[in-house]
Amino acid sequence: MAPRPDTAATGADAARPARATSLTPYPDGPVVLRGPLRLVDAAGVEVGTHRRAVALCRCGHSRLGPLCDGTHRSIGFRAPGGPPQAVGPRVTVPLCAEDG
Ligand code: FES
Repeated sequence: MAPRPDTAATGADAARPARATSLTPYPDGPVVLRGPLRLVDAAGVEVGTHRRAVALCRCGHSRLGPLCDGTHRSIGFRAPGGPPQAVGPRVTVPLCAEDG
């Protein structure tokens, strides 16, 4: 069974060898970053560290922003998905859709 894209990998995933960081937009859902990563907010404060995967909200309605909490399903969020993309050591991701 594949892991849900809106949950962070922990446990056994933490023991896997390091690999390149990738970004995967899920259809009608979050953007998932996998691999070694350091997540900081606009103020430079670390968010969601010590994880090998994080699901970032892009619907703008998560109560756990910037992390996805699954709310995208109940609001009918629609957005295209795409294949995993390798990303460099520093990437800026637009997280939330704008209203209107
Ligand atoms: S994308 Fe999942 S709550 Fe926004």
